[in-house]
Amino acid sequence: MSATKSAQKLIVGNWKMNGLLADGEARTEELVEAIKARKSFLFDMVLCPPATLIGVLTSLGGSSLVKWGGQDCHAKESGAFTGDISAAMLQDLGCTYVILGHSERRQNHKESSATVQEKAKAAHAAGLIAIICVGETDAERTAGKANDIVSEQLAASIPAGATAANTVVAYEPVWAIGTGKTASADDILNMHQHIRGKVGDLAILYGGSVKGSNAAEILKTPNVDGVLVGGASLKVEEFLTIATAA
Ligand code: PGA
Repeated sequence: MSATKSAQKLIVGNWKMNGLLADGEARTEELVEAIKARKSFLFDMVLCPPATLIGVLTSLGGSSLVKWGGQDCHAKESGAFTGDISAAMLQDLGCTYVILGHSERRQNHKESSATVQEKAKAAHAAGLIAIICVGETDAERTAGKANDIVSEQLAASIPAGATAANTVVAYEPVWAIGTGKTASADDILNMHQHIRGKVGDLAILYGGSVKGSNAAEILKTPNVDGVLVGGASLKVEEFLTIATAA
């Protein structure tokens, strides 16, 4: 398994804390059937369901047509960490990816970039591809600090052993997540160019209110290697429209 940049766009669905077993199964089955029905497609799809669903969904028929990821992992391999999940546990369930440093983790769980880096090392040690999220807040952008904030987050979150085969970066401006506001084409172009200068050949995803109606434009922007989709990944038709815009 490799995240090496290719012509295929990487389309990642982050279900966040949504869905019980029946919803997750129905959504996966519908997606898998729709993918099977297509003769060829130009995307790699990764689904990141709540941890409670991963084991069941990865063993559904056809589930190998998509790849699977966790939404977070602990930095340690095992131990007395009540409620946490290790990278090896995700890998054991069939995951190949894990999202790390999502702004909801950085904000709600006070995760620093140093913590994200430790988690990324753990992900790599377990053979997972780390999707490391970065992005500025509204106040930081207004203050003209967006590039500096993202540079700092990249430098402190990406571990030394990161390569295009084990690490993907996701640029997610905090003010665009779940708000319906998408960064402008120019903002995305400029920030992705900035990030490219920092991360070399790592794939760079855009995330923040990606939907069927804006996916094609976002995905054709230089240095956008895919998208990280929250809300719209819960709707099969919408998510497929995004994926097939690739
Ligand atoms: P959104 O979330 O697509 O609902 O804005 C994106 C994300 O948080 O990854």
